[in-house]
Amino acid sequence: MAERIDGKKISAEIKEELKTEVAALKEQGKEAALAVIQVGADPASSVYVRNKKKACEYIGIKSLSYELSETSTEQELLDLIEQLNKDDAVNGILVQLPLPEHMDEDKVIKAISPQKDVDGFHPQNVGALVIGQEGFVSCTPAGIIQLLKRSGIEIEGKNCVVVGRSNIVGKPMALLMLRENATVTVTHSKTRNLKEICKEADILIVAIGKKEFITKEYVKEGAVVIDVGIHRDENNKLSGDVKFDEVEPIASAITPVPGGVGPMTIAMLMNNCVSTMRK
Ligand code: GUN
Repeated sequence: MAERIDGKKISAEIKEELKTEVAALKEQGKEAALAVIQVGADPASSVYVRNKKKACEYIGIKSLSYELSETSTEQELLDLIEQLNKDDAVNGILVQLPLPEHMDEDKVIKAISPQKDVDGFHPQNVGALVIGQEGFVSCTPAGIIQLLKRSGIEIEGKNCVVVGRSNIVGKPMALLMLRENATVTVTHSKTRNLKEICKEADILIVAIGKKEFITKEYVKEGAVVIDVGIHRDENNKLSGDVKFDEVEPIASAITPVPGGVGPMTIAMLMNNCVSTMRK
């Protein structure tokens, strides 16, 4: 039976460490402020934004809220970002995604100063990750590396299969596992023989966005299984991209949903914010 990797506990540990570090940095006169921009009032986004602001408060950094209406123009958002880019009191800028359809997400992300892009979405930060240079790293994949390391799971030399190739999770995840010296295979919806490829994985990371897609037929006995998916059914019950009940008995370690990968994203966002104070 698999060990359950407790993301809630590990994220709480990280936030505790950051809180202590922030207090020490403040003693040296260093401050940090995160600007959080939400456009419209998508309920899921509102929950995420609220939790991000709560985490800031907990670790001792300032959060500044900017709420733009659903009908605001792309130019209004770009102007706000420009103003925050120039503001020396603002260290981090986060635009909650998704944006309304009339806005170009790529253009908005590119408008954020790479030095303040705590989400790690700007092409300059993505490029830095590709060539192993310093920069902000996307929070969910960075959180997964922490989950593995803090659970004592060795990455070096392991066969890692990533299912999904999104810019936010799949692609940076593959690059981070490569940086940790895993042998990495990236798979996606057009991959042939997906089951066979997944079954070769020592570490299987699933971010495909399909509810309970990964059944036991995809998993090697003793594999580590990381589930990035989150799906809510009509009774508000959460499940992931992995059929947990079926996979748990054959894996050596597995992340539950909820309480696995989810809490790590905010912990790593806080780490990215604190990193702006360390300089
Ligand atoms: N929407 C879903 N995930 C994220 C995230 O990590 N950052 C931002 N800004 N928006 C998101």
